[in-house]
Order: sequence, then structure tokens, then C-alpha cells
Amino acid sequence: MTLNEIAKKMCAKGKGILAADESTGTIAKRFKSINVENIEKNRLNFRQTLFNSSAMKDFIGGVILFDETIRQKSTLGPSIPELISKNGAVPGIKVDKGAKPLAGSSNETVTEGLDGLRERLKEYYDLGARFTKWRAVYRISDKFPSVQSIKSNAHALGRYAALVQEAKMVPIVEPEVLMDGSHNIDKCFKVTTEVLNECYNELEINKVDLKGTVLKPNMVVPGSDCKDKSSAEEIAKKTLDCLKRNVPADVPGIAFLSGGQSEIESSKNLNEINKINDSNFLITFSYGRGLQASALKEFGKNQDNIENIQKAFNHRAKMNGLSTKGKWSEELEKEFAA
Ligand code: 13P
Repeated sequence: MTLNEIAKKMCAKGKGILAADESTGTIAKRFKSINVENIEKNRLNFRQTLFNSSAMKDFIGGVILFDETIRQKSTLGPSIPELISKNGAVPGIKVDKGAKPLAGSSNETVTEGLDGLRERLKEYYDLGARFTKWRAVYRISDKFPSVQSIKSNAHALGRYAALVQEAKMVPIVEPEVLMDGSHNIDKCFKVTTEVLNECYNELEINKVDLKGTVLKPNMVVPGSDCKDKSSAEEIAKKTLDCLKRNVPADVPGIAFLSGGQSEIESSKNLNEINKINDSNFLITFSYGRGLQASALKEFGKNQDNIENIQKAFNHRAKMNGLSTKGKWSEELEKEFAA
């Protein structure tokens, strides 16, 4: 398969990406909230339960894994990447080494992980990965994000994406403008515009073939502490407008992060965006919390109740699958609850 074909498979209409690449530290927080011990056995048990659910075939085009998980063998027989491929999705891997304090700035980060990346990519390819993810993080405040943060994170994303294509995998380019703060939706629009522009500038300098990439952006939303709430219609309009202005048309797929939105909000907003999507971008989800929150709750109640955990996950995957077609509705959510 060409990189363009892989990118289109990951974002195929009706499907999206499951971001199950929480680092051991992040999954510790998720498990703490449900009183589950953060040990390898439990992490494998939760994840393989999702990867083996019936929703995989119909609604999931790709799964992003963490380093530990891509090396694991499922207790069901195949290795984790084999299990994912068998169920019709493309296995992928998070390759950045996390957002680290940015020297010269206060309270901003730059994502690290370029040293030794070429060698790690070769290993991941041999383990079955066909795409990768790198997340840059931007904070909004009166003085942030700084030019320094926008430029250094974009530079790293450009070099990362070039190395990944050299290794014959599709890079997911993830510049995440955080929802934290009291800024309004227009400020988010402005910052997202600046961030996307600098990222595509660097991808061009680094000769990245955009047809073989996927963008994973934030939606354009007001800060979580902003008093002026926005309707899903406004979020959809501004998000699509921002993407059409700032993402080159060669990019085949755009897969949003959920970024702290609730499960319902992230489905509803994605649905509104697809209802008005008049671009050629395949617009879908690459959710972590937006896909897993209910399933995690069930796992917390009883780790061995595979049926209930899968039922919760299947439902969220189905709802988001419908949102990629603009066919989601509150009534369908209610039907499931009943
Ligand atoms: P959330 O959907 O929970 O924001 O996670 C997506 C992700 O992969 C962030 O890097």
C-alpha cells in the first residue's frame, strides 16, 4: 500500500482512529479514577478487550499504540499488532518522548524524541506499525503560545514527519492547542491558525509528501473556563473554516483529538462538522478519552465483564462512526441508554 492509501484507510468514511497510546504515566491517572492498579497485566487486559471488540471491523480504521503495547502478545493468541490488523485496522505507534519544558520560556513545552528516531522507526515497522504519532502541545494565555514555542514545535514536527515517511509509514501530525483557560473561541481560532501555518511551513521545508500524512488537530472551541459557551454549530463552522484556510488540500485526512471534551460533546461536534463539510478532507476522530471513558468505567466496575466493557466501547465507536457521516443524533444516544 502507498502512504496515501494507508492514510485514507485510517480515515475511511464511517471509521476513525482509536488513540490507545496513553503513556504509563497517563494511563496511571485514568486507572486511578476507576480504582484499578496500574500494572502491565491490567493495561493489557483493558486494551486487548477493546481491540477484540466487534466495533473494530466497522468503525475503527487505525489504533495508536504505546511502546509497551506494540511489543505485547495478547492472551488471545496473536501479538497486539496482529490482533488489530486481523480486525481490519492499521496498527500505529506514538513515537514522541513527551512534552518537556521549553528552555527560555516559562510554562511552555517542546516535544522531544528526535534523537535515535530513525532506528526506533525501523524497529516499529518490523513490529507491524504502518503509521506513527507525534504530539506538540500549545497553551493559550495572555502571552502564550510564544513564537518560540510555535517555531520549535513545528520544526520538530517537520523533522519527525520526514523521518517517518523515509521509514515508509504515515506520520500523524498532532499540534494540540489546549482547551485550558478562559480565552474565547476567536482566540482559539487565531492561535490554531498560527500553529497550523507554521507546521505546514516546516513540513514543506522538510519535503514531506502531504498526501501521505494525517493531521490530528484540536477543534476550534472556547477555553474550558470561558463564560461564553459556543453551540456545536458555531464550533463546527469555525473549525471547518480554520481548516479550509490553513490546511493544504493535499492532506487526505483530518482526525480530531477529543482534548477533554465529554464523549457526547466530541461526537456531537464532529457530527456538526461533517454535516457542513464541503471540503475534500476526510474528517474523522482520533479520540482517546472520547472513545474510552465509558468503557473504562465498566472496566473499573468489573475487569472480567468483557461483554459490558465491549458494549460501552462498541456504542461510542458506532456513534462516532455515524458522526463521520453527519448521521449521529441525541435520539440514538438515548436509545442506547434505554
Ligand atoms: P484525547 O482524545 O483524550 O484528547 O486523546 C487523544 C490523543 O491522542 C492526545 O494525544
